[in-house]
Amino acid sequence: MHVTGPLSSRWTGYLGLLSALSAAFAPAVAVKEHDFKKCHQSGFCHRNRAFADHALGSTGWESPYHVDASSGSFHDGQYQAVILKTINDGAETVRLPLTISFHESGTARVTVDEEKRQKGEIELRHESKARKERYNGAEEWVVVGGTTLDKEAKVGYEDKTQVTVKYGPASKFEATIKLSPFSIDFKRDGHSQVRFNDQGLLNVEHWRPKIEQPEPEKAEGESAEESQESPVIQTEEQPQGEDQSTWWDETFGGNTDSKPRGPESIGLDISFVGFEHVFGIPSHASSLSLKQTRGGEGNYEEPYRMYNADVFEYILDSPMTLYGAIPLMQAHRKDSSAGVFWLNAAETWVDITKAKETKNPLSLGSSKARTNTHTHWFSESGLLDVFVFLGPTPQDLTAQYGELTGTTAMPQEFALGHHQCRWNYVSDDDVKDVDRKMDKARLPYDVIWLDIEYTDEKKYFTWDKHSFTDPVGMGEQLDEHGRNLVVIIDPHIKNVANYDVVAELKAQELGVQDKKGNLFEGWCWPGSSHWIDAFSPKAREWWASLFRYDRFVGTLPNTHIWNDMNEPSVFNGPETTMPKDNLHAGGWEHRDVHNLNGMTFHNATYHALVTRREGEADRRPFVLTRSFFAGSQRVGAMWTGDNQAAWDHLQVSIPMILSQGISGFPFSGADVGGFFGNPDKDLLTRWYQAGAFYPFFRAHAHIDARRREPYLIGEPYTTIIGAALRLRYSLLPSWYTAFRHAHLDGTPIIKPLFYTHPASESSLAIDDQFFLGTTGLLSKPVTSPGQTTVDIFIPDSEIYYDYFTYSIPPTAKGKHVTLDAPLESIPLLMRGGHVFARRDIPRRSSALMRWDPYTLVVAAPRKATDTAEGDLYVDDGDSFEYQQGQYIHRRFLFDGAAGSLTSTDYNGREATSEKEEGEWLSKMRSVNVDKIVVVGVPGSWKGKTSVKVESEGRTWEARVEVTPAEGRRAGFAVVRKVGVPVGGDWRVVF
Ligand code: NOJ
Repeated sequence: MHVTGPLSSRWTGYLGLLSALSAAFAPAVAVKEHDFKKCHQSGFCHRNRAFADHALGSTGWESPYHVDASSGSFHDGQYQAVILKTINDGAETVRLPLTISFHESGTARVTVDEEKRQKGEIELRHESKARKERYNGAEEWVVVGGTTLDKEAKVGYEDKTQVTVKYGPASKFEATIKLSPFSIDFKRDGHSQVRFNDQGLLNVEHWRPKIEQPEPEKAEGESAEESQESPVIQTEEQPQGEDQSTWWDETFGGNTDSKPRGPESIGLDISFVGFEHVFGIPSHASSLSLKQTRGGEGNYEEPYRMYNADVFEYILDSPMTLYGAIPLMQAHRKDSSAGVFWLNAAETWVDITKAKETKNPLSLGSSKARTNTHTHWFSESGLLDVFVFLGPTPQDLTAQYGELTGTTAMPQEFALGHHQCRWNYVSDDDVKDVDRKMDKARLPYDVIWLDIEYTDEKKYFTWDKHSFTDPVGMGEQLDEHGRNLVVIIDPHIKNVANYDVVAELKAQELGVQDKKGNLFEGWCWPGSSHWIDAFSPKAREWWASLFRYDRFVGTLPNTHIWNDMNEPSVFNGPETTMPKDNLHAGGWEHRDVHNLNGMTFHNATYHALVTRREGEADRRPFVLTRSFFAGSQRVGAMWTGDNQAAWDHLQVSIPMILSQGISGFPFSGADVGGFFGNPDKDLLTRWYQAGAFYPFFRAHAHIDARRREPYLIGEPYTTIIGAALRLRYSLLPSWYTAFRHAHLDGTPIIKPLFYTHPASESSLAIDDQFFLGTTGLLSKPVTSPGQTTVDIFIPDSEIYYDYFTYSIPPTAKGKHVTLDAPLESIPLLMRGGHVFARRDIPRRSSALMRWDPYTLVVAAPRKATDTAEGDLYVDDGDSFEYQQGQYIHRRFLFDGAAGSLTSTDYNGREATSEKEEGEWLSKMRSVNVDKIVVVGVPGSWKGKTSVKVESEGRTWEARVEVTPAEGRRAGFAVVRKVGVPVGGDWRVVF
């Protein structure tokens, strides 16, 4: 590694760790936990937890927040009032404007602001240039719909103590707002689901001036750093014992945060009534069902933290923060779901506890007590702004959240293929060599990636002139096989002379500023750097100009972008990120917007690619991001960051990706093979088999890891990995269809069992297996060394077939079934009752499969007279023309009773006339479904040799081969040369 300039001690430490890693490379090296705050080291976290301890520990605690009854009004779907926070033993009150909005979409939103800050009636310390208000701009970045007020919402009951508003579909939802103390009970069909401030933990740290106190005497032996911290001061207005030491400034790891607005955190308890499981708030290297955080066996001691950070070598089974955050939590129990979305971009922590109810008003005599999950949320600054979803199904939740924050961008089809990355391919010759060797070994792939070393000394938008002498030639060779290149572009801009990009950033003042309003300077890969402020519209416009082909010379239309380090990672900053008192466009402190930062940069890059060249706006960009927030799904994919070549990292990748999926950002993957370290051959093979089921499927490795392109690993591993890759490629039509659903309504791409089987209580905590889209394919990757069998949980009484052998394992609802899973096999079941599409001709890349025929697989239902259903979505895979109706979406129905399979338009659209067809759609007229496989055919099909095919007014016969059942193997039928157009209506009668 090459570094110039002075090194801070932190940076030296970072490099020291890097070189220690390269020497030893044992994956057991773990994150330097002490570089990241624990709750007791984060002032507001400590204070809010202490507040909770005080409230929950005192008998007769009453929340000091009361709605001023005379202030309340309800109009057009919105309740407005002022909450009065009582301080100084009731002598004074603080005015907190409250708005509760009820939306046509069925969501409710509760917003609490602070009048004094709203009006700017506060004094900033340290001559700060920051804004005075609580940050209210998150909505602008995050919310894209679903907030039309519900004019039908009405007050159902009102007296001096409470107001009840009825809202939502058929007025099934209601919110009971209790005035004194303030709380809200959200009910569905008369039953409580979600309660706010039920435990009295609402806490809005209001503005107050600092009362200067005499410096306390320094205790003997106290370190310089300790003495920097503010003393614990007692003023009259705080409950006894409140720790004020971090109100006015806060020091961690040698960095002092000047906190010009003083304490300003917000906190609230949110209870999920009768729910034992809560999910979401990614990203954490933990289980899908979230754990309790207040200690006890098997629980965490720390709250789940959301403060996007470059967590170097993260540890597992931990609530520690990672690179991105989506503050959406959902609760599920048998046949019921509810959720909350905490719209706040500042540092946020969530405590979770579960408690059995002593008295159950709903039990009607049953002795079984309900479990409630109590969550306690707190953010360092900003508005209190929370959306409430009342379900009742997991699908309702993902759809409502999708409407609110947007859905997954429809990716280019190549992006669903296999991506080959490492830090770094060292030259254009190296790239071309890998490309040839993948072909030689018959390993399909779509994208090869370049990490930071391709640049001229980490100056983005440049090429290392010695090793990348002909980037255009490289891009063109890739293009010949329909392949793409992704190059990395990070948000830190090297601070060096003779670099036009940094010169422009400085001259036009497009960078993030420090607390004094000067251009912020910090350290990252290039050494001294500045950071683009993607919150600034002017900076985004400039950013877009950098990607134009005539500016970023050497890039081609098949060049796409990877945004890394956008938390942002600042090696010498507090917790490896930016100081919180830095300033962004509009005068907002970094503290207010930290978790949005990565998304603004990702978003700027996405829009830059759309406008790379005039007329090219019709290609969908691909941008991978490491840091993300709610809404990032609209502009690309994410991956789970720097994992390790270790089995437990392979294991945790599954719940992490599932958690992304249910939280609206399903285009996600983990580094296949593990980033740090060298996987052994079994691990690498198993990781490819699992990765073939990640929505984003990329192999990646650290600069010091040995080369591990799958052709290097040797036999039988290369062949086994090749089979996993071909499985992925053959199923691409089904993956693409799953993306279409995600794009339409926020449905996850790989689905946990609670999502597909919400009625199954025992499915709730299962997070190591999942269904793919609508296919009924149930996958459980092998994630342990030496494992040769897997136990798959079966959530229903349908029949299941082995994907490869068609054997019928002895399944039973609610029980595990054991499958053989030697290294060369991927445990994969087909659930009866589904139809899915494949393309069976093996090719080198997805682009080469564009005009290939389709195979449909029917997994017949257990009951021969029942139906099987499925769908297939196809478009040109790279333009936006699908938005103009240039797509095919078919619904397939296999009718067991009639013995037929039909294809109709998924949306009931009339067939398009040739006039309405663009080039792609018209070419698709000659692309057929050529093979149909029916698995689980009845014995009566024995001896059948032909089937009747009807399509577009014609009828003909196609050959069918029926193989009767034998032993545990199901009977199956294969129809070849079916010859029906994939985009047309047709019917096959068996
Ligand atoms: C950190 C990223 O997480 C990793 O994937 C990448 O290889 C390095 N940065 C170098 O760019």
